[in-house]
This record gives sequence, C-alpha cells and structure tokens, in this order.
Amino acid sequence: MIGVFDSGIGGLSVLAAVARVLPRSDFIYFADTAHVPYGDKSDAYIRARVLRIGRYLAERDCRQIVVACNTATAAAVAALRESLPRIGVVGVEPGIKPAAAASRSGRIAVLATESTARSERLARLIRQYAGPVRVDILPCPGWATKVETLKLEDPDFADAAQRLLEPVLAAGADHVVLGCTHYAFLAPVLEPIVAGRAVLIDVADAVARQCRRIAGELGEDTGETAGGAASGRLELTATAHPERLHRALAVLGPESLAARLSGPAVLAAV
Ligand code: DGL
Repeated sequence: MIGVFDSGIGGLSVLAAVARVLPRSDFIYFADTAHVPYGDKSDAYIRARVLRIGRYLAERDCRQIVVACNTATAAAVAALRESLPRIGVVGVEPGIKPAAAASRSGRIAVLATESTARSERLARLIRQYAGPVRVDILPCPGWATKVETLKLEDPDFADAAQRLLEPVLAAGADHVVLGCTHYAFLAPVLEPIVAGRAVLIDVADAVARQCRRIAGELGEDTGETAGGAASGRLELTATAHPERLHRALAVLGPESLAARLSGPAVLAAV
C-alpha cells in the first residue's frame, strides 16, 4: 500500500503520475481538507499535521508515503523520515534543477505558496541547483484555495495570474516552475499566459520515477515483469468534505484513477 497525501486535492496531480508507473499498487489518497491551505500556516503547524498523517498512513500499512505537497515537504519531510525510519518517504520539491538546466535566458521563475516561498529548503535548492541562473520566487496566496473550489475558469483569476507573471516574462524568464502541486491543475490557465515565452515545469513524472524505484527496493510488484490488466485499488480519505474530494477526482483526475476507486471517499478524524 502506498499513501499519497496533500493538504487537499493538489496531490491528485502527483497521484496520477505515480499510479501510471505503478499500475498494480494499491493507494490511499489522503486530503487534509479540514486544514487546507497549508501555505499560510506556520512550519510548526504543518509539521504537526504531517507527523499525524504519517502515523495514520503507517497504521494503514503503507510501506511508502508520498508527501504530494511542496509546502509540507519543505516544512516537514525531514521530521517525517525521522519519525518513520522503516517507511520509504518521497517528497515533492519545486523543479529548480530541470528548469535552471534548460534555461537559455539565464532567468527562471517559481510559483509557490507563501510558506514554500520563504522556506530554507527552497533557498537551499536554489543555491544547490540554479548556478548562475536568476530565480524569481513568486508567492501565490490564495491559489491553492482557488483550485479547491474547482472554479478554474474564473477570468479574474486569469487576470491576476497574468499580472503576477508578466513582469518576469517581460524580463526574460523562460521557465516557470509550478512549485505547488495544486498549480498543475491551473496549467490550462497559465499555458496561454506563458505561451511562446516560457515553459511550465512540473515534477510529477520525476516523483513517480522515484516512487517506482523505492517500490522496487521494497519488493513490491511494479507491474514491469508480468502482463495483464492493472489491478491496483485507490481509496480516498479526507479530514473534511470527502464528497468534494470524490468530485474533484471526477472533474480533474484521469479516468484511470477513477477506475481504481474502491468506493466513495471516506471521512477520517485524523
Ligand atoms: N499542494 C500544496 C503544495 O504543493 C499545498 C497548498 C496549500 O495547502 O497551501 O504546496
């Protein structure tokens, strides 16, 4: 069993990629919707939530846990690894490395929650991987909450995104890193803004490859050796409004995820 969690529905973008490369694995997707968004909370608050959710997923027999949230990874992945030493913990970090490596203009931008934007982990990632490339960090308060409402075609939002991005695009940024898993679902709004000038960078596929590697090390059936239909199951769990999580999967998720569902989303008092 693999546990994938986020503050809300953003991590479904990561789950989709992981489930694609591990067709036979069983998943629990856990959305901490009673506490979303994490992006405006303190590190201590986020860490307490992450450790609690990690314990819950470990009790549910998860041998691998994917922190499908940049904010939770920045604030608490080290603490989670320390508290669950026998579990394979995979975090999600903004794709600074691939964006900087591919940049021709020497300038990139990263869209992130307020918490990730001010985190030491992001600062370290930039020091390690950006080299001479200039990185503009753009905090995006309210964006994750916007995704949670599933009202992605709001023209006011498109205007706000345009206003935020225009200065860095005009200054030559040629890659825009989606530094929050919720923002993958905003790609249809962001693509037309950056079109012809910059490329959006999402790390979900790289995270999925890492999960498959760990699943192999744990001796799980990675679906590589035998043929046949996918048989993995998916359970949806939320700390509030499980029906919204279920609806989000129907609206946002690929059909392959919906086909794995073992039943309606359940409420968990975690
Ligand atoms: N999806 C999350 C991330 O990747 C968190 C969004 C939020 O809860 O603020 O950062």
